[in-house]
Order: sequence, then structure tokens, then C-alpha cells
Amino acid sequence: MKMIKKIYIVRVAILIILILSWFYYNYFFLSSNDLSSQNKSPLASEYLNMAPEVKFVGDEACSACHLEIFKSFKQTGMGMSFYKPSTGNVIENFKSNNRVYDKKSNFRYEMIQERGEFFQREYRLDDAGNQIHELKRKIEWIIGSGRQARTYMTKIGSLMYEMPVTWYSRKGKWDLSPGYHSRNQRFSRPIVAECMNCHNSYTDHVDNSENKFKNIPSGIGCERCHGPGELHVKSRFGWKINTTMSGVKDPTIVNPARLPLREQMDVCLQCHLLGEKAVFKEGMKSDSFRPGMRLTDLKSIYISDDISPNNFDIASHGERTSLSECYIKSNGALTCIVCHDPHKPVKSLGRAHFNNKCIQCHEIDNLSREPEGVEHQVDANCISCHMKQGDAADVLHVNFTDHWIRKRLSVDEPEKEEGRVITLKDFMEETDSSADIRLGIAYVKFFEEKHGEQEYLHRAVELLEEGLKSNREHIGGLYNLGKAYLSLKNPRKAVQALERAIMMNPVEIKTYFALGISYEKLGKKDKAKDVYLESLEIYSEDALVLTNLGNLEQGAGNSEAAIDYYNRAIKSEPSYPGSYVNLGRLYLVDYSNTARSKEYIQEALRLDPDYTPALSHLGSILVAEGDDEGAIKLFERILEINPNYISAYGNLASVYAKRGELAIAREYLLNLLKLAPINRNARKMLAKIELSIQKFN
Ligand code: HEC
Ligand code: HEC
Ligand code: HEC
Ligand code: HEC
Ligand code: HEC
Ligand code: HEC
Ligand code: HEC
Repeated sequence: MKMIKKIYIVRVAILIILILSWFYYNYFFLSSNDLSSQNKSPLASEYLNMAPEVKFVGDEACSACHLEIFKSFKQTGMGMSFYKPSTGNVIENFKSNNRVYDKKSNFRYEMIQERGEFFQREYRLDDAGNQIHELKRKIEWIIGSGRQARTYMTKIGSLMYEMPVTWYSRKGKWDLSPGYHSRNQRFSRPIVAECMNCHNSYTDHVDNSENKFKNIPSGIGCERCHGPGELHVKSRFGWKINTTMSGVKDPTIVNPARLPLREQMDVCLQCHLLGEKAVFKEGMKSDSFRPGMRLTDLKSIYISDDISPNNFDIASHGERTSLSECYIKSNGALTCIVCHDPHKPVKSLGRAHFNNKCIQCHEIDNLSREPEGVEHQVDANCISCHMKQGDAADVLHVNFTDHWIRKRLSVDEPEKEEGRVITLKDFMEETDSSADIRLGIAYVKFFEEKHGEQEYLHRAVELLEEGLKSNREHIGGLYNLGKAYLSLKNPRKAVQALERAIMMNPVEIKTYFALGISYEKLGKKDKAKDVYLESLEIYSEDALVLTNLGNLEQGAGNSEAAIDYYNRAIKSEPSYPGSYVNLGRLYLVDYSNTARSKEYIQEALRLDPDYTPALSHLGSILVAEGDDEGAIKLFERILEINPNYISAYGNLASVYAKRGELAIAREYLLNLLKLAPINRNARKMLAKIELSIQKFN
């Protein structure tokens, strides 16, 4: 007996020595690297797995020892946030009420389950009920656990896109995806890295692409909150979970509960604080965060200065919590994990769990006895009166909890006008030397992605110019200044900023693309071509660059080269209708091949029956073929879709003038000139028409 025990003890001792020496070896090995250059957090030296070279190992590796937590976590929304559809996990109704009509865009959708696969079919009916358009796309991935909603993703070529219809579990119904009621983006909204990295474990996002991923995991995993597990798994190899070992800090893995309050909060805020816009710090990407870091090491988040007490947005937990007196007056002690155990589904906890958290800080005896006739009692449901539940402002049919804890949940608020100009505020209120630049970048992004009001660009330029004076090498600042100038129609200044950005960081295709456009706007086509060609060496599949190169080649009379580029653009982004229109235009103009041209245009219209450049081009073909009636219908259709489509007015004027209907032609030209007062062609044509009208009178 004794012998066995002795051997056992020796063995364990050797094992421990081995582990410790391995561990110290790693410790010194790691600390000899410059950890702090990647992770500015002072905690990087305490937590060995914050070092950039430590690898992620995946949840299965953790399950070997932490099985209970593993099983329970997989039942939570986060554990089930991203997955493939299968006949085993259907919660939707594919048999009845499986159609959605978007009145605004006049598209209809049908959700289909077919031989183990799932689809969304888009179609359109004419007045007589005949189907005049159809596009069917396969559901490839599901985003959202379905606690509230499931949104779908499709893959076209190698690119990922959101789909137009979402399943809203609470209401048990299909409806347009969040945001699609105001603008139906159909199958064209790219799933960008940011979106993926809030809803999943880290993906291999392909550099320089927008929505291409090499490898897509299934759901948010342990390591998003605990950091890479390689060291921990190796150092704990052979260990069993043993209560006597608990309570000791393990430097190979981050336990958020042991982090300082700010860092602890930031583990959750990396995903639970969407804000209006986020701007990554120089050199950081959406997958650069490691638990233990400060969120400010990764990104700045901008919120509106004009926060509504009554309405709250999705993924605003961080913002709303921080508005609560509980958070402010406790000096930030009210972190998420005071109330939440992220390994357990919220619904499994019950109300009492949360109410008990309130009375940890608020002794019942100290609360006012009868607020408005209600007693503050021990078993009172604190949440029902102090945390609002209901629809989020930006997503319908869901039931979220407003995390702004306050005395009264509804206050009188003036109705807000749509599209008002807001001021962006840095959530973290940083004042370092790049703060102006980041705010400037946030305004550029806000202008491009949310609200095309020029005021935002003017603010951006002012901030960026000022900030770049002292911080001349801020690449993101230069890039965004270039883009702002481009949008403000000042390509000369855009070129200056973008050239500098590329000089310092010649690896980002988007900078080349913007520079190429700027040169084109300056009329320097050769320069533009050089820039585009250079960029293809970094990333050869950028559809925008390929398209612009095609246009340049076509402009220079090199039809064959142009066709080649357009086809490459189609190959890398098969669902972009613009490439087909380009080919259609080329076959008409360069080869007078109307039939071929029409084929391409039809393909563009199959992808998007409302794609105005395609309609316009088809109209021109019809004019050439003498089908004036058909052409007029198309041009009028364009103006229904986009009343600012200037060339449609010009085309209508031409057709009517050709038919001798001068008064109508004149009307279209006047409309055109209202939109573009200095359009020379329109003025010339108007003068001629007015002369003819005078002659006839
Ligand atoms: C070989 C077994 C083993 C594996 C695999 C393992 N762990 Fe552990 N882990 C342990 C042991 C043992 C402890 C200490 C026991 C305790 O505290 O209950 C521990 C402790 C922890 C702690 C607490 C640390 C602290 O300082 O409080 C966290 C967090 C943790 N593990 C996360 C993970 C994650 C995430 C994975 C997967 C990447 C993982 N573990 C894989 C054995 C393992
Ligand atoms: C990688 C991004 C990410 C991180 C990090 C993250 N969350 Fe989440 N969290 C989400 C997403 C996305 C959802 C919604 C998932 C769903 O239901 O599809 C969610 C859902 C939740 C839920 C509801 C889950 C349920 O089943 O009821 C809670 C509670 C929660 N998070 C708390 C936290 C806390 C606390 C932290 C920090 C310790 C945290 N989250 C960190 C992204 C994240
Ligand atoms: C900053 C992180 C972040 C980004 C970026 C983000 N989301 Fe979310 N999203 C969340 C969080 C957190 C929730 C959970 C909200 C809750 O449960 O209260 C959520 C909820 C959702 C839900 C509802 C899921 C459910 O059942 O609760 C859908 C669907 C969704 N997001 C889709 C998207 C798509 C599509 C994108 C990108 C185009 C995106 N999100 C970008 C953080 C983010
Ligand atoms: C959304 C963030 C998040 C995710 C994802 C997550 N954890 Fe945790 N984990 C935490 C937090 C926060 C704590 C500290 C809880 C506390 O003490 O209040 C924790 C604590 C732990 C501990 C320490 C001991 C304990 O029982 O609390 C272990 C072990 C652990 N997690 C393992 C895992 C494993 C394994 C997974 C994946 C299956 C996982 N965690 C996923 C946030 C997360
Ligand atoms: C970490 C401690 C802590 C927790 C947990 C906590 N609070 Fe507080 N709360 C405070 C502090 C500190 C204040 C400010 C001083 C005060 O009024 O006691 C406060 C203030 C409040 C106020 C007054 C707000 C105002 O606008 O004046 C309400 C209402 C409130 N808490 C409700 C709750 C409810 C409900 C919960 C549970 C969901 C809760 N608190 C959980 C610390 C906490
Ligand atoms: C004072 C307690 C408290 C704190 C602190 C707190 N929550 Fe919650 N949280 C709640 C309650 C209560 C619910 C609603 C529970 C229910 O519906 O049963 C909730 C629900 C949620 C949900 C589920 C979706 C929803 O909106 O109902 C998510 C996600 C969530 N919290 C995330 C967070 C994050 C992230 C933080 C930190 C920024 C946080 N919570 C801080 C009390 C808290
Ligand atoms: C039926 C609604 C209701 C419930 C349930 C309720 N409260 Fe209140 N509470 C109020 C109202 C109303 C006020 C505002 C009183 C005033 O005007 O000063 C208030 C005020 C407070 C305040 C501010 C300080 C004070 O004493 O006025 C705190 C803190 C608070 N409540 C905490 C709690 C906690 C903790 C619970 C659960 C044990 C809870 N409340 C349950 C309605 C409620």
C-alpha cells in the first residue's frame, strides 16, 4: 500500500516538475518577445495567453476537462449563435405562412425546404399576377440562436451575403431582416468581418476582401472570453478538475472574474457595444482583441450625443448599462457578470436570480417605502419597474431588455425628425493625440454607411486635417481624408492624402482603389491604370478594381482586354449586375452585337430587375431597334425607381423629340435641368427644341 502511494507521489512530483519547467520555459520564452507592442495592456505580462503567438484550440479541447460548463454554454444564445441549417434544427415554418411581401420594393419572398436544403426565393408579379422575376438563393449559414431571431446567409461564388428574410421566433413569423424595411438590400448585403466576429469565434477572413472567409466556425466559443487556450490545455494536460485546485489564478488562461473592472467589462463590450460607428486603432482588426486587453487598445466606439431614454438599440447593453446610476455611482462595479453567468441561458436563471442581484447593493430597508403607492419589498420584481423590456428601436418583433436601470422607464420625449444631423461622441472619451483623427474617420464612415449628409464630411475633413498636422503618418486618417475629399469632389486633395497613405502602407487594396478613382477624376487615366494594376498584385480578385480597369481598357479601344477584366470581375463577384451591364455595353458599342449585348443585360436584370444602368442600357437598345414605346416604358420605370437618374430624363426627351412630341420633350429637359442646372447637352437640346416650338407657333 505504502509503496504504491510512494510511487504515486513521486510520479505526481515528477509530473508537476515537468509541467512547471515546461511552463517556466514558456514563460521566459514568451516574455522575451515584445508582448507589449501587440497588446498594450499591462495585463499582458500577467496573462501568458495574451501573447500573439499563443494559438486557439477550439471548444472541444476544453470540453475534455470542463464538461459541465461546456454543455451548459452550448445551450446559450452565444453558444448557438452561428451554425448550418439542417433538417434536425428547423424551428421555422416552411409549410405555411412562408411568404413575405415587401410592398415598398414590390419583391415577394417564399421560404422553401427542399430535400434537406433550404432556400429563399425572391419573385415579383405583374398586375395580372404573372411572375416576371425570380431568383432563388440557398441558405448556407444561420446567424442568431433563434432565442429572438434567425437571420440567414448565402454564399455566392466565394462571398457571403445576408439574406432578405428573417425568422422572428417570439412572434413565430417571417419578416424582412432588420433594417430591410427601410431599404431592402435583397441578397447584396455583405457579411463583413465585424459582423462575423461579433457573432462567431474568429474566422479566417481573407485580407483585402470584404466578405470572403476561409474557414467558418460554428458559434461563439470559450476562447472569445478566455483567450487562446493552447498554453492552458498543455499545462493542464493530465489534470482532472479538482476542487482543491480552484481559487488559484491560472496565468495561462484569462478568468474574466479576476480582471480589473474595466478589463472585465471590456471582454463583453467587444461585442455588446455596437454604437453608431466603430473605428479600429491603427494596426488592429476585428479579430485582434484578446481578453485582458482594453477595448480602447482595439477600437473607439462612437455613440450619438442624442440618446433616447425610451428607445434603445440592439447590442447596446454596454452603452445603456453605463448610463445607469448603479454603474456610475458604484464606480463601474456593476459589470455584466454581476448579474449574468455567461455559461447559462438567461431564461434558465429566472427573475429571482436578477432581483437578488439588486438587493446585494440596495438594502430593502434603505429604499423609499412607498414609491407611488408600491411597496419596495424583498420579493418585489425590481426589474419589471426599473429595466424596460420590449422591442429594440432598430429591430422589430424582438423582446430585449433595456439595460439603463432608472427610476422611471418612460419619459416624455419630443418626436425626433428622421435624418437629423447628430454629433458623434467617443464612448470611452479618449483624448490622445489621434482622437481627432479617429472621430474624423467615424464621420466619414457614418456618411458612407448611414447618412449621406455632406455636413458629416465637412466635419470629417476639419478633424482629419487638424489631427494629421501633428500625427502625419496616421494611415487610416490619410485614407479617410482621401475618401472624404473624393466625396467632396476634390480629387486633387484626395490624391495627395492617398499617395501618402500608400507610401506608408502599400498593402491595402481599398487605398489603391480610391487613388485610382481620384486619378480618373483628374483625367489622368494612365496613372489610374498603373495604380489599379499595382493593386492587383496585392489582391487579384477585387471586382471594383477589375471593373475600373475594364472601363479604362474599353475607353482606350482595347475591347479584348476590357472583356477579360469584366469576366474576371464576374468570376470574383458573380452577383454584381454592373459587370454584366459593362459587357452588354461593350458588345453593343464595340461590336454592334445587339443580341449578345441583350443577353448580358438580361442577366443583369435577372440578378436585379430594378438595376437602373441595365434598364437604361436596354432602353437605348430598344431606341436603336425602333421600339420607342418599349424604351419609354423602361426610362419611365427608371424614374420610378430613382427620380434623380439624370440620363433617363435626357433619353426620354430624345425619344419624344424624335417622335415630334416637343412639348413633352421640353418638360423632361426642364426636369433634368432642375437636377443638373449646368448640363450642357440638355441646355443645347432645350434651345433647339424651343426654337422649333417657336417656329411651329
Ligand atoms: C486537461 C484539462 C483541462 C483542459 C483541456 C482545460 N482546462 Fe481549464 N482548467 C483545468 C483545471 C484543472 C483548472 C483549475 C481547476 C479549477 O480551478 O477548478 C482549470 C481552470 C480554468 C479556468 C479558471 C482559471 C482561473 O484563473 O480561475 C478557466 C477560465 C479555464 N480553465 C478555461 C478553460 C478553457 C477556455 C479551456 C479550453 C481552451 C480549458 N480550460 C481547457 C483543466 C483544464
Ligand atoms: C464574441 C462576441 C461576444 C462576446 C465576447 C460576448 N457576447 Fe454575449 N452575446 C453575443 C451575441 C452575438 C449574442 C446573441 C446570440 C444569439 O442569441 O444569437 C449574445 C448573447 C448574450 C446573452 C444572452 C444569452 C442567452 O442565452 O440568453 C448574454 C446574457 C450575454 N450575451 C452576456 C455576455 C457577457 C456577460 C459577456 C462578457 C463576459 C459576453 N456576453 C460576451 C456576443 C458576445
Ligand atoms: C459589435 C458587435 C456586433 C456586430 C458588429 C453585429 N452584431 Fe448582431 N448582435 C450583437 C449582439 C451582442 C446581439 C445580441 C443582442 C441581444 O441578445 O440582446 C446581436 C443580435 C443579432 C441578431 C438577433 C439574434 C438573436 O436571436 O438574438 C441578429 C439576427 C444579428 N445580430 C445579425 C447581425 C448581422 C447580420 C450583423 C452584420 C451585418 C451584425 N449582427 C453585426 C452584436 C453585433
Ligand atoms: C461570453 C464569455 C464567456 C464564454 C464564451 C465562456 N466563458 Fe467561461 N467564464 C466567463 C466568465 C465571465 C467567467 C467568470 C464567472 C464568474 O466567476 O462570475 C468564466 C469562468 C470560467 C471558468 C472558471 C470556473 C468557473 O466555474 O467559473 C471556467 C473553467 C470556464 N469559464 C470555462 C469555460 C469554457 C470551457 C467555455 C466554453 C465552453 C467558456 N468558459 C465560455 C466568460 C465566458
Ligand atoms: C453593484 C451595485 C449595484 C447593483 C447590483 C444594483 N445597483 Fe442600483 N444603484 C447602485 C448605486 C451605487 C446607485 C446610486 C446610489 C443609490 O441610489 O443608492 C444605484 C441607483 C439605483 C436607482 C436610482 C437611479 C436613479 O436614476 O436615481 C435605481 C432605481 C436602482 N439603482 C435600481 C436597481 C435595480 C432594479 C437593480 C437590479 C436590477 C440594481 N439597482 C442593481 C448600485 C447598484
Ligand atoms: C443589474 C443586472 C444586470 C446587469 C449588470 C446586466 N444585465 Fe443583462 N440582463 C439583465 C436582466 C434582468 C435581463 C433580462 C432577463 C430576462 O429576460 O429574464 C438581461 C438580459 C440580457 C440579455 C438578453 C437579451 C435581452 O436584452 O433581454 C443580454 C444579451 C444581456 N443581458 C447582456 C448584458 C451585458 C452584455 C451586460 C454588461 C454590459 C449586462 N447584460 C449587464 C440584468 C443585467
Ligand atoms: C412596482 C414598481 C417598483 C418595483 C417592483 C420596485 N421599484 Fe424601486 N422604485 C419604484 C419607483 C416608482 C421609484 C421612484 C421613487 C421616487 O420617485 O423617488 C423607485 C425607486 C427606487 C430606487 C431609488 C431610491 C429610492 O429609494 O427611491 C431604488 C434604488 C430602487 N427603486 C430599487 C428597487 C429594488 C432593488 C427593487 C426590487 C427589490 C425595486 N426597486 C422594486 C418602483 C418600483
